[in-house]
Amino acid sequence: MAERILIFDTTLRDGEQSPGYSMNTKEKLEMAKQLARLGVDVLEAGFPIASEDDFEAVKAVAQQLKGGPIVAGLCRARDIDIDRAWEALKHAERPRIHTFIATSEIHIKYKLKSTQEEVLGATVAAVKRAKRYTEDVEFSAEDAHRTDQDFLCRVVEAAIKAGATTINIPDTVGYGLPWEFGQRIADLMARVPGIGRVVMSTHCHDDLGLGVANSLEAVRAGARQIECTINGIGERAGNASLEEVVMALRTRKDLMQFETGIRTEEIYRTSKLLQSITGVSVQPNKAIVGANAFAHEAGIHQHGVLQTPLTYEIMTPESVGVPRSKLVLGKHSGRHAFKKRLEELGVELTEEELNKAFVRFKALCDRKKEVFDEDLLTLVEEEALTTAETYTLEHLQFTSGTNIVPTATVRLRMQEEVAQESGWGDGPVDAAYKAIDLITKIPGKLLEYQLRAVTGGKDAMGEVTVTVEMDGQRVVGRGSSTDVIEASVRAYLHAINKVVARPRSGKTITEKV
Ligand code: KIV
Ligand code: ZN
Repeated sequence: MAERILIFDTTLRDGEQSPGYSMNTKEKLEMAKQLARLGVDVLEAGFPIASEDDFEAVKAVAQQLKGGPIVAGLCRARDIDIDRAWEALKHAERPRIHTFIATSEIHIKYKLKSTQEEVLGATVAAVKRAKRYTEDVEFSAEDAHRTDQDFLCRVVEAAIKAGATTINIPDTVGYGLPWEFGQRIADLMARVPGIGRVVMSTHCHDDLGLGVANSLEAVRAGARQIECTINGIGERAGNASLEEVVMALRTRKDLMQFETGIRTEEIYRTSKLLQSITGVSVQPNKAIVGANAFAHEAGIHQHGVLQTPLTYEIMTPESVGVPRSKLVLGKHSGRHAFKKRLEELGVELTEEELNKAFVRFKALCDRKKEVFDEDLLTLVEEEALTTAETYTLEHLQFTSGTNIVPTATVRLRMQEEVAQESGWGDGPVDAAYKAIDLITKIPGKLLEYQLRAVTGGKDAMGEVTVTVEMDGQRVVGRGSSTDVIEASVRAYLHAINKVVARPRSGKTITEKV
């Protein structure tokens, strides 16, 4: 029987801590639920000591994710970090404390300003403290790949003796070459007493584009857990990408007899959800999930694929859940059919979210003849990610054309109050945003604006993603409609509502992990 490789997802920790990928608690929770559906074995929900927001998010994931993956929280090898991590994790069905300390000479000397002996002592103390709280303790030797191998063996042995159940060997700066990194793991497997009792893990960054290759080599050398992220997001060039690691193992079973617990059909949706939440799209040629990953453009390729897909496809789009546009519902579909189709798509909504999504679905049917799975998913994701709405759109009117000054009038509701303003600008979106700024008095600086058609067809829904700087925060907002100006307004309001809902609480830890 094929041996199991554990998939440890750190999208919500290593991924989220990199610039442009920050998520609020609701978004992290949504993402965590999808990662559970995807079937990850361990979900690292955050770094609880880093900030109040991180703490709350880890706690919410620990409390609400039932019957799913192990929930891990990261902490430095310090009492205060470990205690804080446990505070956030203690409600999880299966909690894991993940503690780490740097072991390379460069890090010990310049970052920690410490010594090898002190690092050894801190390792043992941290693992023992974590062990007082939970049986499941992971230890990471930060910058392991640039660590003196004899010292690394000593640290790993000490961590195991202190009770660590998983030992993680990160290539923190993405420096290793595959055979070299694999050799390091093989050497640890051969030399460290007790290593057979614990799970050997790998955490490879992608600075040289080798994160996935290094992870696979580590597996060949004995690692049985891979730490990775959706779309490969993470510090600097990112981490090994979950979808690439998993599909490489699955597609090349002939050479690597391993299996994972990942439901690969959920990969595409998970990737899309992350793109929607963060507003950061993957490049079209991104392996597995990019728009061109299964597109065959050249005539000779198309001809081959028509004869048999095996000619140019090493895996099917279906196997990773790339949807075939399927006509599902229309004007006459009732609430029951709407709910059932969402269930088939694996979407769970609260009764209130469902009611709101159904109203928007009906409105969409009035504007669009055919409603596809992608439309439904866009609508409900928007509903599920909507924060407690402070401002809702009541009315929008605009004029625009080749020889007139574009103007817009916007009416917003804030609980019982209604306010209306007009603005003009260099286009109807600019005019509408100016009118909104007059109402909310929270002027936003538009940093990025993206528009995409959710499906084909002239009547397709447009989905707008904006990145806005407001009140000193950088937030992403998303909105959809068959009218792109309305979608733009919804996206801007989504961002504003997030800012209003979230008091500012910067990270307390400035040093990056
Ligand atoms: O890259 C790294 O070394 C890390 C550790 C904290 C696991 O992210
Ligand atoms: Zn990392």
